[in-house]
Amino acid sequence: MIIPINLGEKSYDIILERGAIKKAGEYLGISQDRRVLIVTDSGVPGEYADTVGRSFENSFVFTFPQGEASKNFDTYRQICERLMELSFTRKDAVIAVGGGVTGDMAGFAAATYMRGIDFYNIPTTLLSQVDSSIGGKTAIDLGKIKNIIGAFHQPKKVIIDPDVLSTLSERHLKNGLAEALKAGIIMDTELFEIFERGEAEKKIDEVIERSLRVKKRVVEEDEKETGLRKVLNFGHTIGHGIEASIPFGELYHGECVALGMIPMCGEEIKDRVISALVKTGLPVSYSIDRERVKEALSHDKKSDIKGVTAVFSREIGTFEFINMTTDELMKLI
Ligand SMILES: NC(=O)c1ccc[n+]([C@@H]2O[C@H](COP(=O)([O-])OP(=O)(O)OC[C@H]3O[C@@H](n4cnc5c(N)ncnc54)[C@H](O)[C@@H]3O)[C@@H](O)[C@H]2O)c1
Repeated sequence: MIIPINLGEKSYDIILERGAIKKAGEYLGISQDRRVLIVTDSGVPGEYADTVGRSFENSFVFTFPQGEASKNFDTYRQICERLMELSFTRKDAVIAVGGGVTGDMAGFAAATYMRGIDFYNIPTTLLSQVDSSIGGKTAIDLGKIKNIIGAFHQPKKVIIDPDVLSTLSERHLKNGLAEALKAGIIMDTELFEIFERGEAEKKIDEVIERSLRVKKRVVEEDEKETGLRKVLNFGHTIGHGIEASIPFGELYHGECVALGMIPMCGEEIKDRVISALVKTGLPVSYSIDRERVKEALSHDKKSDIKGVTAVFSREIGTFEFINMTTDELMKLI
């Protein structure tokens, strides 16, 4: 199945198909006279990068240590140095084979090396398949601040192969399901109902497709997050606050988003959302240090002098934007 992302000159296709990674050469359509650097991390089974590499006559692989801690200037510099050593030019390309960390790293290197070379993405975690691989956001972290240095750089193509999820840990799978559930709550009632019936893992192909269609609608209307795209932050404002308040890695990003969504639901739907989270195996309560969460919320990089644009849902499949101060958010938690 091909899902086109219509962004004028920056349009691209998402290919969603089981087994598609084995046809990467054909599907990406990169001519054999171009060189490709495949960027992956040490936790992604090596066979995926090897499979993609075999599709190209001039391919090279760069592997960095897995984990968010690698999403920094050092790794970015190493990728750029590798591109320089290999004398890559603007006619060559970078392909990410990995989760959101790999996609963000490789995408940012591609966005900036020689002022931008072509970028292709083959996401291998559920989170990256339903969310981070499309929309063109690329970034690295600086100090404790996530994604503070980055660029919008749309991929030329994205290949999503649900077969690669077979090697992913159950916890990382659920982590990705949180972002898909988010998409359902704000914009797709039928997607939400799959979660409500506890069928998300069984119907994973449909969950991926529906989540992608939500993200497609949003990014096509607002590529650079000046308006509608903020809706994708549903659950993220408080989620990021929780994430920043606990020891690094104690909860995964999606787990924090799951917790962050609950206070942003109206009483009319809160019980349904909690029940869907429980059926998905995501956390619905956590012991937090309120002072630390408050401190983190007040440093939210998306807030301005008046507070933050929070996303609220009173009815499944709908959302509203509300400007809220840190104190108002804290009252909801
Ligand atoms: N650009 C965006 O729009 C956007 C959106 C959401 C999140 N993000 C970013 O995404 C990152 C999180 O992504 P993530 O959850 O994919 O984390 P991740 O990339 O760290 O992947 C999680 C773990 O799974 C391993 N892995 C990857 N694919 C695997 C597979 N098929 N089988 C077995 N193991 C596999 C990785 O090595 C890693 O250890 C964060 O840095 C976040 O900021 C970006």
